[in-house]
Amino acid sequence: MKVNLKIWRQKDAGSKGQMVDYPLNGVEEDMSFLEMLDVLNEELNNKGEEPIEFDHDCREGICGTCSLQINGEPHGPDRSITVCQLHMRSFKDGDTIVIEPFRAKAFPVIKDLIVDRSSFDRIQQAGGFISVNTSGNTVDANAIPIQKAVADEAFNAATCIGCGACVAACKNASAMLFTSAKVSQFALLPQGQVEAADRVRNMVRQMDLEGFGNCTNTGACEVECPKGISLENIARMNSEYLSATLKG
Ligand code: SF4
Ligand code: FES
Repeated sequence: MKVNLKIWRQKDAGSKGQMVDYPLNGVEEDMSFLEMLDVLNEELNNKGEEPIEFDHDCREGICGTCSLQINGEPHGPDRSITVCQLHMRSFKDGDTIVIEPFRAKAFPVIKDLIVDRSSFDRIQQAGGFISVNTSGNTVDANAIPIQKAVADEAFNAATCIGCGACVAACKNASAMLFTSAKVSQFALLPQGQVEAADRVRNMVRQMDLEGFGNCTNTGACEVECPKGISLENIARMNSEYLSATLKG
């Protein structure tokens, strides 16, 4: 296969970026998308040109590091997968493929296709944890009975990998799906109740401070989320936030 790549190049955070054309031959349909970029980078290296910087780590859909906007969609054209799970068989010979970084004010570009997602870390630090008293009388978490349906829902929320595709998909660059997943994974469980009101208040406050936009119920985040995180989490977070505010 031959593909015509149009890739965002940007020297550093302070420079103006631009799209650059890279025709690439010898692409195999069984290559992953990131392997295809590896091949391109090897070619650039051999020619003495600077390779394209892009984020990746596990390459198996777990870590949430890979983050590319491909033909206008976060993680590319297929549903429920990350970029590292995308294969070139999803494209045709001669296709033009436009590759950009995730775009959002709260995700500034560091270089080429790499963005700074530390805003997500700061939202987590604001409340994405539980405090456990280790006095010696601590109750074993597994000794607390939880209904299967509730445990499943909490687990589903906890499968969010923090990739940021929800933000990149949203016209408002809202982080409500991410934040609500992190709130929900505790809000549904007894262990999360002690700090519930502070958690939701602090995480929402940090989300706003980071410059993410608001949710206007478009639902693009849910469609593009590789882990199928449901919009119901946003409804839950809004209700948690309202009761936390009423409690004062
Ligand atoms: S909610 Fe989905 S799209 Fe958003 S960060 Fe979590 S896994 Fe990624
Ligand atoms: S590299 Fe870890 S999810 Fe893609």
